[in-house]
Amino acid sequence: MRSHLCGQLSPAEIGQTVQLCGWVEHYRDHGGVIFFDLRDYSGRVQIVSDPERTPHSYPVAQQLRLESVVQVKGTVSQRPPGSENPRLTTGAIEIYAAELVILNPVTRALPFAVSGNEPVREELRLKYRYLALRGDRLQQNLRLRHRVVQCIRRYLEDELGFLEVETPMLTRSTPEGARDYLVPSRVYPGQCYALPQSPQLFKQLLMVSGCDRYYQIARCFRDEDLRADRQPEFTQLDMELSFVSLEDMLRLNEELVCHVLYKIKGIQLPRPFPRLTYQQALAQYGTDRPDTRFDLRLVDVSDVLADCGFRVFREAVQTGGCVKILPVPGHHAQTISNVRIKPGGDLFRLVTEAGAKGLAYIRVREGYELDTIGAIKDHLTDHQKQALLERTQARPGDLLLFGAGPAAVVNKSLDHLRQHLGRELHLIDPEAIALLWVVDFPLVEWNPEEQRYEALHHPFTAPHPDDVEHLERARALAYDLVWNGTEIGGGSLRNYQRPIQEKIFQLIGLTPAEYEEKFGFLLEALEYGAPPHGGIAYGLDRWVMLLAGADSIREVMAFPKTQQARDLLTDAPAPVTPEQLQELHIRFELPQDE
Ligand code: AMO
Repeated sequence: MRSHLCGQLSPAEIGQTVQLCGWVEHYRDHGGVIFFDLRDYSGRVQIVSDPERTPHSYPVAQQLRLESVVQVKGTVSQRPPGSENPRLTTGAIEIYAAELVILNPVTRALPFAVSGNEPVREELRLKYRYLALRGDRLQQNLRLRHRVVQCIRRYLEDELGFLEVETPMLTRSTPEGARDYLVPSRVYPGQCYALPQSPQLFKQLLMVSGCDRYYQIARCFRDEDLRADRQPEFTQLDMELSFVSLEDMLRLNEELVCHVLYKIKGIQLPRPFPRLTYQQALAQYGTDRPDTRFDLRLVDVSDVLADCGFRVFREAVQTGGCVKILPVPGHHAQTISNVRIKPGGDLFRLVTEAGAKGLAYIRVREGYELDTIGAIKDHLTDHQKQALLERTQARPGDLLLFGAGPAAVVNKSLDHLRQHLGRELHLIDPEAIALLWVVDFPLVEWNPEEQRYEALHHPFTAPHPDDVEHLERARALAYDLVWNGTEIGGGSLRNYQRPIQEKIFQLIGLTPAEYEEKFGFLLEALEYGAPPHGGIAYGLDRWVMLLAGADSIREVMAFPKTQQARDLLTDAPAPVTPEQLQELHIRFELPQDE
């Protein structure tokens, strides 16, 4: 139906007769001469029709509506001097439409303009996703995603000898910390499959099978609270390797990430990537996924203030919490007024929303005088003041923002504050790419609600060999890859011997009967010659989001769901027929108020 693609034409084709297909865009009628752009995935080219030069097409052109699908035949010509459009690659040419056929007219009012920059409600864009996807930005994102996957496949398969294996979707629950999506079985009344939260156990079993290097572009399902970088179904680049050390794993993954970045963006990143231990990350940034594109760092001053006269600080330390400072250098500090820090101010609100009780501050004045609201400085000894200045290396003009309380709350609130100020004060170079590994995670953490330890990553992660005596305090052989403050991947070396795997199940509160019932198949497999192995999974959507410069993974998924986990396009989830439920032996018991 076509001889060329719209965006491929150039002055080299001037004089040639071409036949094109596409969508009508930027239609304008200049009193007797009709212009529009014809768009396909490759780009757009200007089409012209007037009663004299193109009498055949003119009556058809008069009926055109935006986004109708048309076929055009005509000769490529040079645009008249002065009418070129330097923003278009085809901006020096146009095509007089000798023939114009409407292949399919648009017969309804468009819910929004496909091309153009007007803001459109997200719900509308999701309901009419196919129209949103016609727009340049999402088209480019889909194509970028395709190229990233292509590049990953080529590299893993052709350079590194990985084997792609598909693992089942209908399976047993794999614990990754979220709720499962369940699929009730018709054949086994009262029983369910779980959709995989990740292919974790299958990929480990593939190592037992001798596959050596496995990868999969794997769909995963997690019923959890959604955010800009979380969807209920998402895609992992999932990998597992046999006979590798932790250093081997990190090196191979750095090579992969750098290869993709170079192929896609032409960017060469230095290797090895920086590493922070979990403890260092929390201490300096308050989070295990720090955005290291900018250098504001937290400073722990708990020891300095442990017995100071200011009750809030003293009690925070004495009850097992901490006091930390986010120092803001003078030239930035000047733009932050006290009103914003005090109750009612936006920065105050930001930290209290993250759980903090308040936001104390000190301004360092000329001569290193400390300036603050009431209580704090009157309750600090000269020695303590001096120690704060030294610890923070503060200079006149600087602003010291305090967090005091339980460590988790202090870290969370100062992390939010740090990120907020990083953006507001333009400390972030939008072009920068800061990748780093976070390592030495704790193997388990205490869950006070359930009164038990739980695995920080998942229970298949191996403890650090130096720490096996005290598993509850052990570091894990786990690693997360953080990119500009987003966790794009995580993995670990695994327990490949039954006894240690059993110990960890016991540590997280499973009885032998329970772990036998849930993971007996894995434990058994470990006894039939399981090689040492480890792996990683990347959030492919997050990876592409960062490469695209998008601010949500919805922007790089063809058909994402809303924040409320609805698919607005097909309107799912949806009720099913009573017959379907009956076949599945299901009766719903709905909440009273709905
Ligand atoms: P983890 O649970 O850390 O590890 O997941 C790996 C990566 O997947 C991405 N991710 C998500 N992306 C979008 N929406 C979500 N809801 C979502 N949840 C996670 C993140 C994350 O880093 N089996 C292990 C990996 C392993 O140990 O090999 C696992 O799934 O980028």
